[in-house]
Amino acid sequence: MKKVLLCRPHFFQVDYQINPWMKVGSVDKINALIQWENLVLQYQKLGVEVEFIDQIENHPDMVFAADQSLLLGEKHILLSSFRFPERRGESEQYLTWYLDHGYQVTTLPEDLYFEGGGELQPWQHYLFIGVGFRTDHPSARHIGEVFGKEVLCLELSKEHFYHLDTCLMALDDRTVFYYPPAFSPASQKALQDLVPNLLEISEAEVQNFAANSVVIEKSVLMQVGSPVMAAQIEKLGYRVISLDVSEFMKAGGGLHCLTGYLS
Ligand code: ARG
Repeated sequence: MKKVLLCRPHFFQVDYQINPWMKVGSVDKINALIQWENLVLQYQKLGVEVEFIDQIENHPDMVFAADQSLLLGEKHILLSSFRFPERRGESEQYLTWYLDHGYQVTTLPEDLYFEGGGELQPWQHYLFIGVGFRTDHPSARHIGEVFGKEVLCLELSKEHFYHLDTCLMALDDRTVFYYPPAFSPASQKALQDLVPNLLEISEAEVQNFAANSVVIEKSVLMQVGSPVMAAQIEKLGYRVISLDVSEFMKAGGGLHCLTGYLS
């Protein structure tokens, strides 16, 4: 990962509830801004180029820059289509940003929903796609065709883990972390059969958005306070950098959700 898109949380708040984490009016906006600025600094320290989009009013979840798109190729993105009307207005803002910055934009057919980096995790030659809450099998099939890659649909079964990046994180080609109860028994089995080093995240740590970490070469940005998973990651030769984005967790999102991948 060399370049990311982050959205300045000018108007971040919880104004509605579309996942069970969300408590209306719970965000300390100043604290959210401080936490977010710190995230920007961390990316810059790691040598990651940061691009910015400004949040506009009445789109509180626009800060979750992972969700609006997927990178299809150099300067080419696939624009998401949100399940809930509350989030649909964000797409237009991101579309404008991408066009203004010289990106080619591909859109989804009208009847398909897909929420970008929140739902998709590339692993080896597969695309892991979380289905059940925000997207479904036909959308996942379409995404597979667009990317020309094999899709493994993972059925999400618990409302708190409505996006794949809330309950699964691929560290590298051998190691994947997951929270088993978030997946149907068949999807748990599929992962167990496929992944050589499949490690479980505890309930306490998955609730702390440990799965929502970001891997940048040999560093992992992680929400502070998940010592077991952090130790496992370090044992595998990575450096864990702890950050606090707890204000954003009040909307059901963490570090990975805040990060749009641009290259
Ligand atoms: N409140 C947002 C929603 O429910 C949070 C999105 C977090 N993004 C993510 N990639 N998990 O849509």
